[in-house]
Amino acid sequence: MCGIIGYIGEKKVIPILINGLKRLEYRGYDSSGIGYLMKKKVIVNKAAGKISNLEKLISDYDEDTFIGIGHTRWSTHGAPTNENAHPHFDGGARIALVHNGIVENYRTLKTKLKDLGYQFTSETDSEVIVHLISYFYEKEKSLVEAVRLALHEIEGTYGICVVSSLEQDKIIAARKGSPLIVGIGENEHFVASDAPAILEYTNNVVFLEDGDVAEIYKDHFNLKSLANQQIKREVEVLDLDISTIEKGGFPHFMLKEIFEQPESIQNSIRGRIVLSAGNVKLGGLEHVLDDLINSKRLILTACGTSWHAALVGEYMLEQYAEIPVEVEYASEFRYRNPILNRNDIVVAISQSGETADTLAAIRESKKRNATVLGVCNVVGSSIARESQAGVYIHAGPEIGVASTKAFTSQLAVLALLTVLIGRRKNLSFGYGEKICQELLNLPKKISQILQKQNEIEELAQQFYQAPNFLYLGRGYNFPVALEGALKLKEISYIHAEGYPAAEMKHGPIALVDENMPIVFIATKDSTYEKILSNIEEVKARKGKVIAIASEDDNSIDSIVDHVIKVPNTLEMLSPILTIIPLQLLAYHIAVKKGLNVDQPRNLAKSVTVE
Ligand code: F6R
Repeated sequence: MCGIIGYIGEKKVIPILINGLKRLEYRGYDSSGIGYLMKKKVIVNKAAGKISNLEKLISDYDEDTFIGIGHTRWSTHGAPTNENAHPHFDGGARIALVHNGIVENYRTLKTKLKDLGYQFTSETDSEVIVHLISYFYEKEKSLVEAVRLALHEIEGTYGICVVSSLEQDKIIAARKGSPLIVGIGENEHFVASDAPAILEYTNNVVFLEDGDVAEIYKDHFNLKSLANQQIKREVEVLDLDISTIEKGGFPHFMLKEIFEQPESIQNSIRGRIVLSAGNVKLGGLEHVLDDLINSKRLILTACGTSWHAALVGEYMLEQYAEIPVEVEYASEFRYRNPILNRNDIVVAISQSGETADTLAAIRESKKRNATVLGVCNVVGSSIARESQAGVYIHAGPEIGVASTKAFTSQLAVLALLTVLIGRRKNLSFGYGEKICQELLNLPKKISQILQKQNEIEELAQQFYQAPNFLYLGRGYNFPVALEGALKLKEISYIHAEGYPAAEMKHGPIALVDENMPIVFIATKDSTYEKILSNIEEVKARKGKVIAIASEDDNSIDSIVDHVIKVPNTLEMLSPILTIIPLQLLAYHIAVKKGLNVDQPRNLAKSVTVE
């Protein structure tokens, strides 16, 4: 939520900033701006809307400027206007700041600063930080000191970058609650909210921790705490390739990521399956394995799509690992009194590893002495680092705002976790082996579904003007109904509801008429016969039924209006297959509506505000 980039070095800065912002645009696209030092002044260009609007303002990319910062915004305080775009200036236009996060006490600070004569030009919470820095600079005459003192006044979260004409040889960066990395090149340094912004220049990074303040020069940087203590952090080498963050010939990241799923699933399970033992190996959990086996309850906490993955995980873990599971919206978890017992383990599931609600939930759990495990995609992310143990899903960078490959990889990892715990309990060698073998078979089966893209596109053509959709499923495929509906809502803006199919008769059936498309996930599993009855109920009311069905189901074709067949698999793994046509359906409907699939309105990829 909001993306930050900074550069200091020997290269011309404007193209680096713009390029970095484009790579970060998935974090927010309400406005963007850059600030750079030139001829002893800070120059700021900013524009409401997409980065393309900012680009139109830049007359010369080749300016002799070698230090700068940039920002792409997801609005929290103040509308997406030019004035509210970052960077923000202090009164004298000597200090420029970009901020990701929320200043919770900004009203109090703003009143105090206004009383002191500071004038505000935006409605943002962020602007108070730059005026505070200016206030302390007058006293301290040191930029880093002024930043440190200003941050002492801030309640809330921040990732910030500051440049100033008063001290032209440095960028100051600091974080609390919003991610920031420092990239290290030869005679150059970068700052970014996320690795994709700098990956084409360097793989060597330092992850800043909460409370870190970095004073960054061309050829070195100095890291201290808010309390002014020297800090040393390891340089980590990112194992990421630039091609993984490019579209690779696809029109949208979302489509590319849907099509990457055979490979992303393979990466999630690679090296983790021990077929000969009907078991799995998860290195990141070895030291907590006994705790997992002995735990009385798992609490899976997450938001959005990751929460849907957690729901499927609940079914898997209760059935095969025989462990009671509760699934909690992370956003609700800490605002009640969650009862955590000594033997409870909290598992936080998050693609980005930066979701503020999920982070808050794990911090609350740790306060209550629970063991916290993380299931994350982004390596080195806050949730990964704050968890006591965990598993990476290794889906690779997910740039499309609508989560697709991360969901299926989360499910694959939850299946691995199920086998790991289950095999230490009553899950037989034979069934453990079967699950493992079927996980290995999934990439091929996903590829078979992807070949049906044209069929699904035709379906999209028929239904893209529908104002509403219902998605229904039972058992393992009830969360898939929720996820299918979410995908459609977020990228096509069509109202869609996901329900357990049997709940339909308790209310939603009132919505059914000849204009209502209803997607049933109706694979041949333990609830198949029941689902068929639900389909009949809908057909009796003239609803238009689209079924996701098993490849060997020949009888369903005559009952429903449209059918998309998926290969057979184990029931517990079926969501990994049944979601694929629903991702493609949502994608093609949104494309037919002419919408921006990768950057749907009002959304951002990484939700770092509560
Ligand atoms: C939906 C989507 C969101 C995220 C949610 C949690 O397509 O992307 O619902 O799933 O914001 O994000 P993570 O998994 O990064 O914690």
